[in-house]
Amino acid sequence: MSKAWGGRFTEPTNAQVELFTESISFDARLAEVDVRGSQGHARMLAEVGLLTQQECDQICVNLTEILGEIQRGEMKFTPSLEDIHMHIESALIKRIGDVGRKLHTGRSRNDQVSTDLKLYIRDAIDHLDGLLLQLQASFVSRGETDLDVILPGYTHLQRAQPVSATHYWLAWCEKYNRDRERLADCRKRVNICPLGAAALAGTTLPINRQRSAELLGFDAPAANSLDVSSDRDFLVEFANALGLIALHLSSWAEEWILWCTTEFGFLKLSDAYTTGSSIMPQKKNPDVLELIRGKSARAIAASQQLFVLLKGLPLAYNRDLQEDKLAAFTAYDTVRSCLELAPAIVRNAHLNVDRINARLEEGFLDATALMEYLIRQGVPMRSGHEIVGKLVHLCESKNIRLADLPLEELRTASELINDDVYQILGAKNAAHALISYGSGGRERVKEQLAVWVERLGM
Ligand code: ARG
Repeated sequence: MSKAWGGRFTEPTNAQVELFTESISFDARLAEVDVRGSQGHARMLAEVGLLTQQECDQICVNLTEILGEIQRGEMKFTPSLEDIHMHIESALIKRIGDVGRKLHTGRSRNDQVSTDLKLYIRDAIDHLDGLLLQLQASFVSRGETDLDVILPGYTHLQRAQPVSATHYWLAWCEKYNRDRERLADCRKRVNICPLGAAALAGTTLPINRQRSAELLGFDAPAANSLDVSSDRDFLVEFANALGLIALHLSSWAEEWILWCTTEFGFLKLSDAYTTGSSIMPQKKNPDVLELIRGKSARAIAASQQLFVLLKGLPLAYNRDLQEDKLAAFTAYDTVRSCLELAPAIVRNAHLNVDRINARLEEGFLDATALMEYLIRQGVPMRSGHEIVGKLVHLCESKNIRLADLPLEELRTASELINDDVYQILGAKNAAHALISYGSGGRERVKEQLAVWVERLGM
């Protein structure tokens, strides 16, 4: 097969080299954006007189048909045509001859592949944003039912202070919201158009880059052809944003894996989202959550892969860049598949409230509330800390709760303790007593819930 760039060569390419240099095995998924990009380019070429309107129409119609062939699996891919760009262009030339040979006017594969990637990543960002929104909505819908459920909050995985369960659900909404913001920010730089930067220097032809950018929905053309042909910052940003999503997913998964243990018993996953054991009949394993935790490695590694790939590359295009797609697509596929499952897992999990309540009074979740009670009575914070520490020690030796101590005994620790102390003792009371902005107390959490319901348009 003769190569588009074959003019200056007299010998055929070594077959092993063809296999080594091909990217069609992983860039075929760019077919749709490649056709979209080429159609925008052709329309611009027609507007500036580098194609006739008729030629442009012929190109656009045939590109659409070629895309149909590819999507139906009818195109046979071959390493000798290297990549998706060459496959589509050569199919076009096969169909319409010299008119097809005009499409690549004023562009190179360097700006073409970068344009394609940006169109692809822009769609990916929009899709991920929708998935993240659904995940947030699934947490918020749980928030509405679980406002009065009290959960033990942990630090160091040791019982710390009690919070409304809704506070817990909304904590995840906050994290995924920052993820959405990061993607939106990344999208701004994705949406700058490389097309027409050509190989590295631009072109002597009178193309209109503002117009092709506009036709493809970009905000503006990139201002420096040398910069843009080497620029993959947007991919690093994208992969980093995905790495953080993966990190959040992995922490959530880990926590729920713990919560599903007999030891915790906080949560029951629905049968549809768990799997069994081939030998132990009683088992119901959180494999999906474990795989979300495990697959996060791929997305996090992808961002490292891109950094290492790009480090030390000189301007402008270098063939190394072909490898960028492997990392970016892996990150995208991985995070997308996790996000496609996560909302249903959240919605269908059963919070075992009886079990949580049965053990809520263990672990002195109200100790900090008691210390703050003393502060309100005028005791310096450090002294209050010590007084309550001693009371906790006393309770531990008697195997009772702080709330079980009679008033006289509490008053031997501090005379400033009165009968009203029992209003803040006990995990439920201690949770209710939380009032600061952003805290886990019912009223504050209710306010935040309303903010989220409104923000997500629920
Ligand atoms: N398949 C190539 C890639 O993905 C397309 C660009 C090739 N450019 C070139 N100058 N050989 O990077």
